[in-house]
Amino acid sequence: MIAGGRPKQNQPFVEAGITTYMHVPSTGLLKIFLQNGDKCFILEGRESGGHVGPRTSFVLWEGMIDEILNHISNSSSDPSEYNILFAGGIHDALSASMVAVMIAPLAQLGVRVGVQMGTAYLFTEELVQTSGITDTYQKEAIKCDGTVVLEVGPGHANRCICTNFARSFMKKSKNLEKQITPRRDTVCP
Ligand SMILES: Cc1cc2nc3c(=O)[nH]c(=O)nc-3n(C[C@H](O)[C@H](O)[C@H](O)COP(=O)(O)O)c2cc1C
Repeated sequence: MIAGGRPKQNQPFVEAGITTYMHVPSTGLLKIFLQNGDKCFILEGRESGGHVGPRTSFVLWEGMIDEILNHISNSSSDPSEYNILFAGGIHDALSASMVAVMIAPLAQLGVRVGVQMGTAYLFTEELVQTSGITDTYQKEAIKCDGTVVLEVGPGHANRCICTNFARSFMKKSKNLEKQITPRRDTVCP
């Protein structure tokens, strides 16, 4: 899997026979990847845990599904060569059913579709037993009743528990915004 990858960054792996999934956050980027002949994607919406993209899952998936259907119908490629994973907010029977309905047109064509879950595993015994996360991490996750997204830079946003660290990060970030000229207003000297 390559998160935040550029087009063709997967090429050395693909040439070595390694199936490589690219995280793609927008239809514009997906077009470029599809034109390059890429066929394995993870479409991860803003509801995800960890690193999040700019669009909420339903908005992202709707645009992406249309783009993939359009590409397949205008090319001679075999739909069953495409492997598409949907991620972001899928954690129970209802959310899995919702995504299943959305991706039915792809499945009907023969595209290989699946879902990827992350947050749901934070609440399993096995994740602590195998040192995926610490006991304290899991206890905090169980205790919390909301999350925040911390933006560390353009395209780099992470969903976290609202801890003292998150509060202090947001405070510092607001102060910096007040002190420094916002990025969009900067001009070449
Ligand atoms: C605590 C946590 C850490 C994660 N770290 C990574 C990571 O390092 N690289 C990555 O590609 N995805 C990472 N993810 C994203 C997951 O692989 C997955 O796509 C995402 O969690 C799916 O959305 P969900 O959390 O709503 O189930 C992480 C998710 C969580 C919850």
